[in-house]
Amino acid sequence: MTYERDNIRAMQGYTSGEQPDDARTIKLNTNENPYPPAPGVSEALRAFDPIDLRRYPPATARPLRTQIAALHGLAEDEVIATRGGDELLRLLITTFVEPGRAIGTTRPSYSLYGVLAAIHDSPVFEVDLTDDFGLPADFAADCNRNDCALTLIVNPHAPSGRLFSAEEIRAVASESKGVVLVDEAYVDFVDPGIRYDVLPLLREFDNLIVLRTLSKGYSLAGLRLGYGLGPASLIQPMLQKTRDSYNLDAVSQVIAASALADQTYARSTWEKVRSERVRMESALQGLGFTTWPTQTNFLLAKVPDDGPSAADVYAHLKNRGVLVRFFGTAGMDDKLRVTVGTPDENQRLLNLLNELYGTSTAEGH
Ligand SMILES: Cc1ncc(COP(=O)(O)O)c(C=O)c1O
Repeated sequence: MTYERDNIRAMQGYTSGEQPDDARTIKLNTNENPYPPAPGVSEALRAFDPIDLRRYPPATARPLRTQIAALHGLAEDEVIATRGGDELLRLLITTFVEPGRAIGTTRPSYSLYGVLAAIHDSPVFEVDLTDDFGLPADFAADCNRNDCALTLIVNPHAPSGRLFSAEEIRAVASESKGVVLVDEAYVDFVDPGIRYDVLPLLREFDNLIVLRTLSKGYSLAGLRLGYGLGPASLIQPMLQKTRDSYNLDAVSQVIAASALADQTYARSTWEKVRSERVRMESALQGLGFTTWPTQTNFLLAKVPDDGPSAADVYAHLKNRGVLVRFFGTAGMDDKLRVTVGTPDENQRLLNLLNELYGTSTAEGH
């Protein structure tokens, strides 16, 4: 006997990346920022008076939304703050997708999309990326043909790290009949020299919305704070109707504000990640791995053909206290996703791989 709805009984829940109990484990598996949050975060936490917890927090997180709007040159009614980017995804589906209507995305993409669609009892229409993780030219047309009410694009893409251009996003928004979400969870790590920016497109299209999170760029995955940027006609129904009454607690709102206020600090962590990303890319290639160009804080790496399987490399590293992500799904079972850590963490990984592949090119550590 079960009381679950049929679709809930049939579905699998989201599999989170491992969170080890041993603090000595080097975690290169869930794309967290290896550097601490801005110094102002500790001050904000210390200064927070528990007496303020008697009262409900600002319901729509208005002071925080005002700050986010100013940061991006938008109006406050074009911003919604959510409990992680994940809550925004759920709100988009609840608000813009009739149960049963399709949700479009790429294959591969962020695996939570399929889980949220299953909860909503909506099919997911997946368009295969090209061999080098490019967006097929007929992506939007395909989604339209399959009557997608919502299309979800991760950019820069996870798990490959590839960045689609703003022009490609414009083409999808312009052609799509439904709402288009650009999930920019990793955008802070994009090389500023590329000048990637889709926010000007929000003025051009009434069906485009952008997801951001403080989990990666601001070292606050434990806080659970994300936000959406888009035209008021898309933001307001979520803000005023489908959001939980007090979706963000008072402490999170204050901490998020302090982290966002220190752009200089956040940028310094992004810069360090970018420089280690380049080092990791060439070191992994030197070991015989194939990597793909990445604009995120992680690398997708295919294990060398003539060595142990990706599953074995993952297990070997885990036994020695370094966690990376192994998906094991179709097309991904020969690959590992490796988060860029601190120089010491990365070197530990490289030393273990050097041992495994019997080379001696590692720098000592
Ligand atoms: C592609 C992508 N989108 C969104 C998120 C949501 O992040 P959060 O809910 O921590 O803000 C993640 C987290 O890993 C992600 O990888």
